[in-house]
Amino acid sequence: MWPPSRRQLCLAFLLVCALSAFSFLLHLHQDLFRNGLALSLPCLERQPVPAPVAIVCLPVTSPASNASSCAGRPAAPSGIWTIHPDGRFGNQMGQYATLLALAQLNGRRAFILPAMHAALAPVFRITLPVLAPEVNRRTSWKQLLLHDWMSEEYSRLEDPFLKFTGFPCSWTFFHHVREQIRREFTLHDHLREEAQRLLGKLRLGRTGARPRTFVGVHVRRGDYLQVMPQRWKGVVGDRAYLQQAMDWFRARHEAPIFVVTSNGMKWCWENIDASRGDVVFAGNGLESSPAKDFALLTQCNHTVMTIGTFGFWAAYLAGGDTVYLANFTLPDSEFLKIFKPEAAFLPEWVGINADLSPVRTLSGSWRPWRFLG
Ligand SMILES: *[C@@H]1O[C@H](CO)[C@@H](O)[C@H](O)[C@H]1NC(C)=O
Ligand SMILES: *[C@@H]1O[C@H](CO)[C@@H](O)[C@H](O)[C@H]1NC(C)=O
Ligand SMILES: *[C@@H]1O[C@H](CO)[C@@H](O)[C@H](O)[C@H]1NC(C)=O
Repeated sequence: MWPPSRRQLCLAFLLVCALSAFSFLLHLHQDLFRNGLALSLPCLERQPVPAPVAIVCLPVTSPASNASSCAGRPAAPSGIWTIHPDGRFGNQMGQYATLLALAQLNGRRAFILPAMHAALAPVFRITLPVLAPEVNRRTSWKQLLLHDWMSEEYSRLEDPFLKFTGFPCSWTFFHHVREQIRREFTLHDHLREEAQRLLGKLRLGRTGARPRTFVGVHVRRGDYLQVMPQRWKGVVGDRAYLQQAMDWFRARHEAPIFVVTSNGMKWCWENIDASRGDVVFAGNGLESSPAKDFALLTQCNHTVMTIGTFGFWAAYLAGGDTVYLANFTLPDSEFLKIFKPEAAFLPEWVGINADLSPVRTLSGSWRPWRFLG
């Protein structure tokens, strides 16, 4: 019997490599496919199944390993970037948009993690592919905490396997691709139609006429009632602010109607003056299912924001005139270290200064109980 030549051994070895690579790919592909299907379940409409192909070679081309099964294949030349999904709906929209814009800017491919898909895909026709949990676990990521405004260094990022963290939601990251961002955040038809049906039924209380202009009003309450004064020396939108903001629209638009949504509807009923018949308390105020409130706000023509990323996104997508609460913390607030108003509000939006007297009396050096021991 002939001893196998070196060449034959080598060929046999390559064959085994190729077979094991193939079975590995097959498994990974099946995983991804199952995942794609499972992730699509919460949505009423069919989601595009995330493209599995792009991720296939990842676990073995990550910087930490040089396994043989994918050797010789190009190591995903454009890299794989993702972002850690954190916080609520508006935060995750900000994370999604920032990831998309930064990846594009740096010529990298963006993938979202399943939790972000689960939060956003039931509402929007987002298109970024989903990274399989297995791939996420096995990749040795370089993590980068983003601050909430664009800066030069973010347009020269080198790492091929980068996972952003933080709560970016600044237009300075993504306004240059705003049409694409708007497309990504297109509502599913059933949500848009339901919001339109509701708006179509509204009539002005005094005249019974159809409103010409819809102004979405988002009143952020909930945890911010404690967090703003206690942690950030700040306030939330109060009764006087909402009155001024609504009067701003009444002075500029014919027959507007105000569509109020909030996670504190009871406060709104008690504090927003509805005696002119042009205010509708429409939000269902459920923090757990913000989709309907959000859809309603984006279908309005203009927006009154208070604070928070939910209101930002409603205003950004509605695209009309926007009035926001400005200077809502004391000047020495730590909040201003992580939040730059000029990077948060579009220049054409109209700010109305907050009344800071509630936090001034809390933190002023003259507070009387200081001397009570
Ligand atoms: C992986 O392979 C490349 C190219 O063959 C080599 O330069 C690099 O040192 C290897 N890395 C590890 C961790 O073995
Ligand atoms: C205002 O919004 C309503 C409801 O979405 C829409 O039907 C109408 O066309 C909008 N008006 C303008 C001027 O965009
Ligand atoms: C917020 O305060 C700054 C500094 O006092 C001021 O320049 C700015 O005009 C204020 N913003 C608004 C909308 O009034």
